[in-house]
Amino acid sequence: MDPTLRARLQRIVGPTHVIHDPETRASYETDWTRRFSGTAAFVVRPADTSQVARVLQCCREAGVPLVPQGGNTGLVGGSVPRSGEGVLSLRRLDTIEDFDPVAGEVTVGAGVTLERLQQHVRPAGWDVGVDLASRASATIGGMVATNAGGVRVIRYGPMRHQLIGLEAVLADGAILSRLPGLLKDNTGYDLPGLLAGSEGTLAVITRVRLRLIPNRPARAVALIGLPSVAAALEIVRAVRAAAPTLEAAEVFFPEGLALVLRHTGLRAPFARPYPCYLLLECAGATDPAPALAALLEPLVDPAAALLATDRPDRDRLWAYRERHTEAISAEGIPHKLDVTLPIGRLAQFEREVRSHLAALAPSARPILFGHAGDGNLHVNLLGLPPDDETADDAVLRLVASLGGSISAEHGIGIAKKPWLHLTRSPADLHAMQAIKRALDPAGILNPGVIFDLDHTAPAPDHLP
Ligand code: FAD
Ligand code: MLT
Ligand code: ZN
Repeated sequence: MDPTLRARLQRIVGPTHVIHDPETRASYETDWTRRFSGTAAFVVRPADTSQVARVLQCCREAGVPLVPQGGNTGLVGGSVPRSGEGVLSLRRLDTIEDFDPVAGEVTVGAGVTLERLQQHVRPAGWDVGVDLASRASATIGGMVATNAGGVRVIRYGPMRHQLIGLEAVLADGAILSRLPGLLKDNTGYDLPGLLAGSEGTLAVITRVRLRLIPNRPARAVALIGLPSVAAALEIVRAVRAAAPTLEAAEVFFPEGLALVLRHTGLRAPFARPYPCYLLLECAGATDPAPALAALLEPLVDPAAALLATDRPDRDRLWAYRERHTEAISAEGIPHKLDVTLPIGRLAQFEREVRSHLAALAPSARPILFGHAGDGNLHVNLLGLPPDDETADDAVLRLVASLGGSISAEHGIGIAKKPWLHLTRSPADLHAMQAIKRALDPAGILNPGVIFDLDHTAPAPDHLP
């Protein structure tokens, strides 16, 4: 690391927060999947917005790019260095400030974890609209930067929908502040909305103002064994139409369940296996179980259905679904393809993706699961070398041919970059690249994520 830059960074954040020894750097250099890693020039850990701004100014002057990093739970390789960038860790920005229990709004530092925020607001009757299994480590800043989805999107939408305002540092160190978070505020472009899902490529998010949802502790979870995805979607349709309390509609399959049982020691939920499993959760001010049971009664075989209302029983049913990610990773390093389909084509996709893979990439071992209610399936492929993308290509082309998206909720990162053109037109790509050039002309924020841009070349003046 350049000694002048090191001394300048140490003056800004303090000597202990510029990390350069390889052992301490290691956990910042490899992502959660273990598929993506690179050597960082250094890790810098600012404590507040003004330190973030000064770090950015310094690194820009030194021509050293930065990879913003929150909890490092991202699954597309966007949170770790590729070729000697510095890692800008936002985890020390961990203050929960200005919680307004009357309005149901809160302002938090980017480094606050989802779990800590949940624990902070729930006793006061509020909750965070987005929930996901990585809650203990995922940060609110990272969740905004990826526009995280999770298990409640059918009721509350993704992270962008929870956002009332934010504060961010631009590539030149200027601070963008949209924190008052007025519910009605049509003054120019929606920059917070643009930064949601920008994966650290346009600005560094330092504080976030969120709209909260009422905490609904009265919950019921059903786990149902079914013959097919089509049968699962039919139940989702019926419950959704009749139960406004429906919050989650998740699916998984026998091959994923087998891995979860093997790696967690849980017992099988039913006496026999089923081709498809559907997990539903309803939440209301009063116990939603009787209404859910009445809705399911004519639709499901009682031997293939479990209903839980107490917290430990609900958690046990959720574990079959939520522990897929860790069970798959315990088995090997997967290629993770997070895709959405129009809901009417989800069943067709699930059938065809298996037959395409069997024909084109027989060594790939597909493990599917996901958020059936919003058409989002996670296609995990085990048994492939990290760099063999034949199977990824087959899956993503099938998704595009069926009118879906190659990234539902995890983002593009570096993992999906080669296929961005499948679901974004040349005009769309051109507009996104123009925004990147305008906000980060020197290319110091997460270069190589979403797309590759040659910052030394003049911007094209016509569409490709
Ligand atoms: P990181 O992994 O550190 O970073 C992710 C991206 O955001 C990177 O591109 C990084 O550069 C950028 N970034 C991070 N912080 C900032 C910041 N302050 N400013 C600007 N850019 C920033 N995702 C879902 O959407 N739904 C799920 O259901 C879900 N479940 C998961 C379950 C498990 C077990 C795991 C391991 C992951 C899961 N994820 C899920 C993926 C991941 O948790 C989310 O993408 C999460 O939003 C990432 O947050 P993070 O703080 O870990 O960000
Ligand atoms: C999930 O829904 O559990 C996640 O998005 C994580 C994953 O895809 O592995
Ligand atoms: Zn998911």
